[in-house]
Amino acid sequence: MSDVISHNDNGVLTLRLNRPVKKNALTKAMYCALTEGLARASADEAVRVVVISADGADFCAGNDIADFAQDLPLFQDDSIDHDDMPVFRFLKAITFFDKPLIAAVQGQAVGVGVTLLLHCDLVVATEDIRLSLPFLKLGLVPEAGSTLLLPERIGHQRAFAWMALGEVIGAEDARQLGLVNTVTTHEGLDEAAQAMAHKLLKLSPSSLRHTKAFMRDPEKLWQVIRAEGAVFRRQLTSPEAQAAFMAFLSK
Ligand code: COA
Repeated sequence: MSDVISHNDNGVLTLRLNRPVKKNALTKAMYCALTEGLARASADEAVRVVVISADGADFCAGNDIADFAQDLPLFQDDSIDHDDMPVFRFLKAITFFDKPLIAAVQGQAVGVGVTLLLHCDLVVATEDIRLSLPFLKLGLVPEAGSTLLLPERIGHQRAFAWMALGEVIGAEDARQLGLVNTVTTHEGLDEAAQAMAHKLLKLSPSSLRHTKAFMRDPEKLWQVIRAEGAVFRRQLTSPEAQAAFMAFLSK
């Protein structure tokens, strides 16, 4: 079975991360599947809303660390087009996606498991979420446009503290900060996300598309993502990143 399950139901396409034994850490294949899902949703007029959800106790432990280690030579190779790498193709797809995007989040969300939420229009979460951004601790820089989106959303000092001091944000703080719309139980999570989606199905697709376009500037965001990405790729070889990845992979 694929590590991303796609399910299309009457206008709602659900993309479900399905690698719970690895806390849904995102591999290249998963980025490709998510990108394809978003492309299908864009091309199909019948798809009006996309929901990103995950199987298991945790939403997503970020980028797969074994993939980082394996792809280090590619990340460092300045002769290739990095926009074509699966992670950047996914980030471009989510940045330019012009239909409503809902996330249903439970348990741990780490790294890109958090920063992708900043691209979603609605987020529903369980009471036990633990959102963390370990980029600086790993000798990296925040990605996916989060250096733009996060301070815009929660203010500079709170964003800096979260990124630099390694704080973990729980459900109530996330709701108060405006990172999460609704908090619910594990059992109620899917139903709450689908209920939100069905409310959106009642609205005019073009009104939604125009509203989303007025609220975001994908061109500007994509330039930030590329700039962050260029530094992130270099930082992957920092002593801190190398030591952290070696420690994780050899544990
Ligand atoms: N990449 C690859 N594998 C990962 C992973 C990741 N990002 N996160 C978790 N896994 C794997 C673990 O290696 C483990 O695999 P194993 O059972 O084969 O040993 C499995 O998922 C369960 O993870 P574990 O660490 O045992 O769970 P935990 O509940 O103790 O801790 C986390 C959960 C998310 C806090 C911890 O796994 C973690 O810190 N992961 C790395 C997060 C990260 O740094 N992501 C990159 C950000 S740029």
